Amino acid sequence: MPSYGSDNSKQAITINSLKKMKQAGEKFVVLTVYDASFAAVLENAGVEVLFTGDSLGMVIQGHETTVPVTVDHMVYHTSLVSRARQQALVMSDMPFMSFSDPLRALDNATRLMQEGGAHIVKLEGGGDVVQVVEKLAKHGVPVCGHLGLQPQSVHKLGGYRVQGREKEAAQTMIDEAKAMQDAGADLLLLECVPASLAKTITETLSIPTIGIGAGRDCDAQVLVLYDVLGISLGLRPKFSKDFMADLKGETNEISVEAAIRAYVQAVKQKQFPAEQHIFE
Ligand code: KIV
Repeated sequence: MPSYGSDNSKQAITINSLKKMKQAGEKFVVLTVYDASFAAVLENAGVEVLFTGDSLGMVIQGHETTVPVTVDHMVYHTSLVSRARQQALVMSDMPFMSFSDPLRALDNATRLMQEGGAHIVKLEGGGDVVQVVEKLAKHGVPVCGHLGLQPQSVHKLGGYRVQGREKEAAQTMIDEAKAMQDAGADLLLLECVPASLAKTITETLSIPTIGIGAGRDCDAQVLVLYDVLGISLGLRPKFSKDFMADLKGETNEISVEAAIRAYVQAVKQKQFPAEQHIFE
């Protein structure tokens, strides 16, 4: 049974500490998590941001997409994670349509923070959500933007594909990234974009970028926990890695914590993502 509650000997991770890590060229590690026991294991393994993603719709609830996930689901799972959190930053996803206008977004972000205990909310979208980001930031809600592949729009996109490959689309993404930062976003997640584009965006922004399928030059990496442990349903995406399977060939210590520690070390030492996990 993991132990819960604050260990005051360590400093809490804040948005400012993540920004300082970017300035110092030090990578930080984000991993999805949906309950208290795993949250405690992730923290012990050195994960800096506990991210309750709406991917829970797929890996916990067994849906084909993240679209069915509701604000109630997100509040519930974020609260489980927050209960076990010690020093890590807790980030929570705003689910499909929960931020369709600035006031709706404000109400739902309030719930994620007050009832869920989130320190920062993440929302998918480009130019269409800049006003929402502005409204949240003005009211003191920290925001992580999300550009590139936006899984909540899967039915519109017609599938999960790499985004920003054409010159015009790449320039739009760079402009949207700057607009997000100007609107007050504190972090920016880039999903399934060519590595060179993610590098340009990371170098252009002063706020940290978090990559998933976005090469190794982002300031941080994120993966879905169940992919790291090799227990995801269906196909594993090209950009993810089963760190549990890796342990089996290499060490005597095979445990969930050891697999997560291996992920943390690989990100910190710039060994993950490797060539085979990157799009160009
Ligand atoms: O919900 C999720 O897991 C995500 C991924 C990009 C990490 O948003």
